[in-house]
Amino acid sequence: MDTPKEIFLKDYNKPNYYFNTVDLTFSLGEEHTIVSSNITVYPRIEGSSSSPPLVLDGVDLKLVSVKIDGKELQEEDYQQDARHLTISSPPSTARFTVEIVTEIYPQKNTSLEGLYISSGNFVTQCEAEGFRKITYYQDRPDIMAKYTCRVEGDKTLYPVLLSNGNLVEQGDLEGGKHYAVWEDPHKKPCYLFALVAGDLQSRDGSFVTRSGRKVALRIWTPAEDLPKTVHAMYSLKAAMKWDEDVFGLEYDLDLFNIVAVPDFNMGAMENKSLNIFNSVLVLASPETATDVNYAQILGVIGHEYFHNWTGNRVTCRDWFQLSLKEGLTVFRDHEFSSDMGSRAVQRIKDVSYLREYQFPEDAGPIAHPVRPHSYIKMDNFYTLTVYEKGAEVVRMYKTLLGSQGFRRGMDLYFKRHDGQAVTCEDFYAAMRDANNVDFANFLLWYSQAGTPTVKVTSFYNSEAKTYSLKFSQEVPPTPGQAVKEPMLIPVAVGLLDSNGKDMPLTSVYHDEMLQEVSTDGQPANTTVLLIKKKEEEFLFSEISERPVPSLLRGYSAPIRLDSDLTDSDLFFLLAHDSDEFNRWEAGQVLARNLMLSLVADFQQNKPLALKADFVHGVRSILSDDSLDKEFIAKAIDLPGEGEIMDMMDIADPDAVHAVRSFIRKHLASELKAEFLKTVENNRSSDPYIFDHSNMSRRALKNIALSYLATLEDAQITELALNEYRTATNMTDQFAALTALVQNPGETRDEVLADFYSKWEHDFLVVNKWFGLQAMSDIPGNVENLRKLLQHPAFDLRNPNKVRSLIGRFPNSPVNFHAKDGSGYKFMGEMVLQVDKLNPQGASRLMSAFSRWKHYDETRQALAKAQLEMILSTNGISENVFEIASKSLA
Ligand code: ARG
Ligand code: ZN
Repeated sequence: MDTPKEIFLKDYNKPNYYFNTVDLTFSLGEEHTIVSSNITVYPRIEGSSSSPPLVLDGVDLKLVSVKIDGKELQEEDYQQDARHLTISSPPSTARFTVEIVTEIYPQKNTSLEGLYISSGNFVTQCEAEGFRKITYYQDRPDIMAKYTCRVEGDKTLYPVLLSNGNLVEQGDLEGGKHYAVWEDPHKKPCYLFALVAGDLQSRDGSFVTRSGRKVALRIWTPAEDLPKTVHAMYSLKAAMKWDEDVFGLEYDLDLFNIVAVPDFNMGAMENKSLNIFNSVLVLASPETATDVNYAQILGVIGHEYFHNWTGNRVTCRDWFQLSLKEGLTVFRDHEFSSDMGSRAVQRIKDVSYLREYQFPEDAGPIAHPVRPHSYIKMDNFYTLTVYEKGAEVVRMYKTLLGSQGFRRGMDLYFKRHDGQAVTCEDFYAAMRDANNVDFANFLLWYSQAGTPTVKVTSFYNSEAKTYSLKFSQEVPPTPGQAVKEPMLIPVAVGLLDSNGKDMPLTSVYHDEMLQEVSTDGQPANTTVLLIKKKEEEFLFSEISERPVPSLLRGYSAPIRLDSDLTDSDLFFLLAHDSDEFNRWEAGQVLARNLMLSLVADFQQNKPLALKADFVHGVRSILSDDSLDKEFIAKAIDLPGEGEIMDMMDIADPDAVHAVRSFIRKHLASELKAEFLKTVENNRSSDPYIFDHSNMSRRALKNIALSYLATLEDAQITELALNEYRTATNMTDQFAALTALVQNPGETRDEVLADFYSKWEHDFLVVNKWFGLQAMSDIPGNVENLRKLLQHPAFDLRNPNKVRSLIGRFPNSPVNFHAKDGSGYKFMGEMVLQVDKLNPQGASRLMSAFSRWKHYDETRQALAKAQLEMILSTNGISENVFEIASKSLA
């Protein structure tokens, strides 16, 4: 590897040449594929006497020929290195053509970038920089052109030939071949190019847009999987309707394809009209997929569909702006899922995920802003920060501007930028200009990394009948950013009276200024306070008694909130808050405080004890019939081990695991009768339906079962085995399996073997089986994983299998962080093995090490040794190099 080159946002330059049209021809072969590309080029600055060189990107390509304006170039007319083809002096005309022929080897491509083979079918993946593995091109998103694509291949092996846009021609060729020509009328960057060729069949549907366009919908899979595409089709139609209803956005072509492939590095890809999906995010049947899978499919199909406007019609100027499309589109898919299910529960899921996984990322050595300042491999920046924190940033615009203001901003964004490649500032400017507001330091959310902490103290003045909230904010230092500026933080607040009702809020004083909070003459129950400076105070007047404040309602900003609420305030909020998210949150704060204090006890060898009021709190939620069942299931679930470790100065995985297990077991024994009743009352033998009420029922039953199984008692094992055997859908079957395998022993081994023999023919179910074993907390599990690597169903080349068996291993912190270093060693070896085949996959595994400095010295030394071992290995990819070197810096 030559020294990897770091690319900086500040170095962005406009291209010297733009492309107008691109005509591609693929001659697909069993040994190699020939790609011919014919590009019309025009200079950015017309009429200059000397023309700058035209530099094209290209990796792993065999150049066959280059022509300019029809004339073949001689070797002295161009230069080639491992990454570029440079045409030294292109014509200085207003327009010229470049024709390039290259030879590529998809059959040998295990990186799954560019053109590759999955289960015998040709598939592409071009985002971020995969197109350069197909042909020489200016592989950057601000080059937008109109494409045609002719695909030629064997008719029996590849009966279906697909690319972007509309099919304009097809026919037979000599030698058993056929061809198809596709034309995409919309200009696009090359990362949205796609081609699929293979033996696939489609489920067909249709959707009529509100302006009357009839769109053909096709979901492509191998024939045997077609029955599993019903839910995907439903999800697609729901997404199309939702985007019309909520954002007024319609689909813009006559055809929308989804192709499900088993070998795919990520979730899915929004190529114009030819979306390619990891099969786990398309295929579902009640027998083989869980409620979680169904919900993910709905969300991701929505996500990719929504990209057609936020990503494709308006795209990114450069890859630093990735969150412009990803943060916005994640926000849109979260909103879609909320509208299709429960808004409060969706918010709970999204915030839990942010805290469990994004917070640690933002606090470790690879912390980076929502808009990174530099990268070596862009693929390393498809991160939780860019996606999930980016979505929170978009949500804050909505919180600041209200639904209508946000919609005005979106409308202006499309009006200004349709067909363009733009930046995060352009989005900000549209929001600002459509609403005539000044957001002051809001843009810092894009440039400053680290999770801000906001401290709140409150004071009630019973004489003056005023209530004051004092805030102070702190953005922690992160690599390369020692000092931070205060940011604009919207904090949604309500005040509860002693009956638990919202107090009407009429006026707030801030900086000696009166702010009216009533809307439409009605006093508001929630007001959004804007924290702009390091310290701010707000004073509510006409407050007749000391209120209990409900702070950061709906989690109005992605921060850590540190308040002076007492346990009794929190129990009060848990029982009464009108903001459902904050009811849940009050319970979580109580649980976090409890867990942290028990962790301290554990570390000092004190006996662990659970306070009665906590048990009582859980009991009262469990038996509250007025609550949504999915909400109850979330509310009685303890914060994850990762979330607790994230809050500690020195993370202690053994203590956190011991404490979490202790609380679970203790709750199970105290509430055994209630949990048994919950299982009993929430069974159903009706056919599986994926809707909110049925999902909620199953979620509640299954969490009760998982608590009960911690008791390791024979009666419960029988119960769980019975649930397992009689389950009529995968949600219930897998939940029972999960409950049973918590405890080592014969039953565990038997039921795991039984499940495998039932499902060995189904790759997606087998992956669940791998994943479940990978995440297991049973002592010394790493040895089981080493054995499973040899299992006939395992394959290091398939990303889903790697993710299931290896990528899930760190979800068991006790085993991954085992003090003998066995977990780190396993992961270190796996990173190097996967890297030889698939650098993106290997680099993703590295994230397990990202917070190695957050552990004790022994663990630090062991983790560091693995990172150094990886970094000193010859021939590692740039992807792995970047993460390893930044982790060690
Ligand atoms: N744009 C895709 C999405 O919908 C993800 C592409 C990820 N690419 C990558 N190289 N990691 O989110
Ligand atoms: Zn996306």
